[in-house]
Amino acid sequence: MKAFFTYFLFFAFSRQLVAGLPDIDADLKIKLKKANVTALPKPGAAKKEYFELGKNLFFDKVLSGERNVSCSSCHSPEHGLSSGMAYGIGGGGIGSGPLRKASAFTQYTLRNPPQLFNLSGQPTHFWDGQVSYYDLDSDQKILTTPEPGLNGEYPYLTEVIEALRLASKTNSNDNFMSLAAQILFPIANTYEMKGSKYAQETNEDYWQRIVNQVLAVDGYKALFKRAFPQAKGQYNIGHIGVAVAEFIRQAFSATETPFDKYLQGRVTALSIEEKRGALLFYSEKAKCSQCHTGPHLSDFDFKSVGVPQGGPGVSADGDDYGRSDYTNSTLDVFKFKTPVLRNVVLSGPFMHNGVFKTMKEVVVHYNDVGYSIDHFDFEKLSQVEQKNYKENSKRNNARYNSVEFEFRMPLHLTEAEIGDLVKFLEISLTDPNTEKSLKSYKGIKVPSGLPID
Ligand code: HEC
Ligand code: HEC
Repeated sequence: MKAFFTYFLFFAFSRQLVAGLPDIDADLKIKLKKANVTALPKPGAAKKEYFELGKNLFFDKVLSGERNVSCSSCHSPEHGLSSGMAYGIGGGGIGSGPLRKASAFTQYTLRNPPQLFNLSGQPTHFWDGQVSYYDLDSDQKILTTPEPGLNGEYPYLTEVIEALRLASKTNSNDNFMSLAAQILFPIANTYEMKGSKYAQETNEDYWQRIVNQVLAVDGYKALFKRAFPQAKGQYNIGHIGVAVAEFIRQAFSATETPFDKYLQGRVTALSIEEKRGALLFYSEKAKCSQCHTGPHLSDFDFKSVGVPQGGPGVSADGDDYGRSDYTNSTLDVFKFKTPVLRNVVLSGPFMHNGVFKTMKEVVVHYNDVGYSIDHFDFEKLSQVEQKNYKENSKRNNARYNSVEFEFRMPLHLTEAEIGDLVKFLEISLTDPNTEKSLKSYKGIKVPSGLPID
């Protein structure tokens, strides 16, 4: 009898639950279609030889001039491929993740290290989009990067370009070419891997120094030979870009989130709260999908959402003017690339400078951008983040005015709506396989024998 009663209760309850669903699913379906959202396809199989080489290079400090920092020092698998703190700490820093400490000679990066999921689907790289590969006209594609020798119709670093082109040949996806080129720049950045000792060297010389340093390690010669037999022993930094990009493309994908499952038709993949959150995300009320749209939840455009600036800042005055520092256009002031959002919760703190520590803080900011800018409590930031905050807050009006009018207005989200949005961002968009796959790199050994961060 008791069993029957429990069954009856369960039945009545689930009926009630289901009763509310068809409407929300139907609504959501229309909104998702309008925002051009589709599930992400799994990445194609890796080219094994590139992957193996790229994996080793990603974790190996031999890729930095002073052999004291690797990609994983700032893009740590344990912290959602970011640093677990607002900024990254470059060469000479000690430890990894949020416990990583700067030494006397170490620099903090000027921005928050972005996560690296689903990167080969992205047409531009860096917070300000400094690296891209795009159509000049319908039949010609050119690179744009911080290195003039790789850019335009007639790049003069021809061998590097040739090696990078291999990438787009083996990968039908054009975005892969910009990803392979992108890898060259953290290597050559003094705040990241170049270190002060070689700061004066040109990219060209420094890149070749790195290639030689890597090839001097037993174990790498064979890996290079296997990956690039056609290079006949003449390797350059482009080959490194291709191998690391292939590793990132394959290893760091997030395509099995509950949201992807839902998009593939499994209506039970999201809870009712997550569905309400999704509905809001794609609604006129919260407006998120006006920028976070399409399959990656990004328009890959550059927008200002009025994020308060703390920390070192890119500009001489300690602020960060985003895209405009690179385009020199006042129209681009305070604009940053709309980030992709799968697995976003794993890589906090959030935004280009990591000022928001929780997803709720992000949503509360959007709920009233003007209030958030004016009442930002900088006292809660770490010492590094507090740097320049007082100076930068003098530009609060400019920051506010850089946000497009319609996104400046308060959204009037209720506490419950904020909760639903946070659930959508934190649960629906997180791939449950990621944790397991990222953990598999723990304890990895690299050919140089250098310690791993
Ligand atoms: C000292 C910390 C640090 C190290 C080491 C580092 N990065 Fe980064 N990475 C950053 C920061 C900070 C940014 C954002 C810079 C910006 O946008 O101005 C970034 C950006 C990127 C991006 C751009 C993502 C996007 O599309 O916006 C990629 C890809 C990347 N790094 C890969 C790598 C690889 C591969 C390595 C090793 C070769 C590496 N990084 C080493 C801190 C680091
Ligand atoms: C006007 C375009 C625009 C709108 C509208 C918008 N975003 Fe964003 N979003 C961005 C940009 C640009 C950034 C990066 C800003 C920065 O770092 O200064 C960002 C950053 C984020 C981040 C942090 C990602 C990371 O990796 O640190 C999250 C989460 C986010 N947005 C969620 C939302 C939600 C939720 C909404 C709706 C309430 C929303 N966004 C509305 C453009 C937009």
